[in-house]
Amino acid sequence: MAEDKLTLTDHRTGKTYDIPIENGSIRAMALRSIKVDDDDFGMMSYDPAYKNTASTTSKITFIDGDKGILRYRGYPIEELAEKSSFLEVAYLIIFGELPTKDQLDEWVFDITHHTFLHENVKSMMEAFRYDSHPMGMFISTVAALSTFYPEAQKVDDPDVRLYQIKRMIAKVPTIAAFSYRHSRGLPYVYPDNRLSYTGNFLSMMYKMTETNFEPNPVLSRALDVLFILHADHEQNCSTSTMRAIGSSQADPYSALAGAAAALSGPLHGGANERVLRMLREIGDKKHVAEYVQRVKDGDFRLMGFGHRVYKNYDPRARIIKKVADEVFEVTGRSPLLDIALELEKIALEDDYFVSRKLYPNVDFYSGIIYQAMQIPTAMFPVMFAIARTVGWLAQWQELLQDPEQKIARPRQVYLGEDKRPYVEIGKRK
Ligand code: CMC
Repeated sequence: MAEDKLTLTDHRTGKTYDIPIENGSIRAMALRSIKVDDDDFGMMSYDPAYKNTASTTSKITFIDGDKGILRYRGYPIEELAEKSSFLEVAYLIIFGELPTKDQLDEWVFDITHHTFLHENVKSMMEAFRYDSHPMGMFISTVAALSTFYPEAQKVDDPDVRLYQIKRMIAKVPTIAAFSYRHSRGLPYVYPDNRLSYTGNFLSMMYKMTETNFEPNPVLSRALDVLFILHADHEQNCSTSTMRAIGSSQADPYSALAGAAAALSGPLHGGANERVLRMLREIGDKKHVAEYVQRVKDGDFRLMGFGHRVYKNYDPRARIIKKVADEVFEVTGRSPLLDIALELEKIALEDDYFVSRKLYPNVDFYSGIIYQAMQIPTAMFPVMFAIARTVGWLAQWQELLQDPEQKIARPRQVYLGEDKRPYVEIGKRK
């Protein structure tokens, strides 16, 4: 019978090594025994950007990028998007199982009753410049929460951890909406406990003089689905950041602020903002072919296309396209949609994109929906952050419960100068 092992021969020494294979992987530490002599540190694997390195085992999210499959805790994303709600999915991702009716009621009650921010947090936010980018406000405010909840430092205490998890899921929409209102010079709107998670968010964003804001049910459901789609995506850049910061046993607010900072970049959660700017720049369907040519010439990348893991159509993009139709029924069709559809059509037929397996990703259509819902472009990464907070927290909790994990500390291959004596300043060239 075939054995689960990899046999390597080091031709420098002629020695052969048997390395056990577990779950289709070898342990990088097993390479350390491969040495030229006793003084040798041992073999390492070199993997910039961790393209082929598993940093953890996980039971949260499964992705098969070649087949275009995404599942949370085993449940297909398509079923969750159709049948579940964001808070139910949040429970599933955090606890591992779908809640019973009682568990869900209690969870929704708890989240709903933690949505308020301390008034000092509000005053702090008021001190931001009038034109501050909402993502910068979001990141800084989440970090500042650690000063309001110092008990969060007890990361080994499961009860304390759960309390912070509830607080963060509850408070991120409030911080996000306050950031938006601030950037518009509008008074902040307090949470409304009558409403659903996304209904309340819409109220905090758009309520003006009405006593009770009644969110449009189609729009709040669309937002709920978008949040479900963005809730987790295994070890992406921001989640790995959450785990890396969490591995030093920093409090979860600091770790979450770091994760949100990683998300803000244009190659990650900032991509939907860039997609919209790109569509506006193209301006008309008739300029699409010329724009695609410039992408192929290497002038810039097609935003919202390509993915490190998906080498097939991103399953989330398929669901989002359907949501877009429902939203446009309410808001009217966005003229940018025609440009996006033309862009997708031309790119999917072009050998440059086909040969590189570049397909639309989740962010290609999410921005158009947000725009139709009157959410400004600068808020797009913040919207992503609200939903991904759930995934970040579940992954942080899993890290802390994993006996194999230690402080994250990659190695390097040093290629710099060898030892040399210090040169006095007057003698330097
Ligand atoms: N437009 C044009 N060419 C591209 C694109 C693109 N969007 N993405 C990748 N390529 C090309 C790239 O130039 C390279 O070509 P070559 O082999 O000739 O050098 C090849 O495809 C492989 O690209 P890569 O940069 O090695 O792939 P990666 O896995 O490191 O990058 C990515 C993944 C998402 C950063 C990249 O596809 C990209 O920059 N996309 C645009 C930004 C974007 O939409 N990001 C959102 C990602 S989904 C939401 C999230 O999870 O954050």
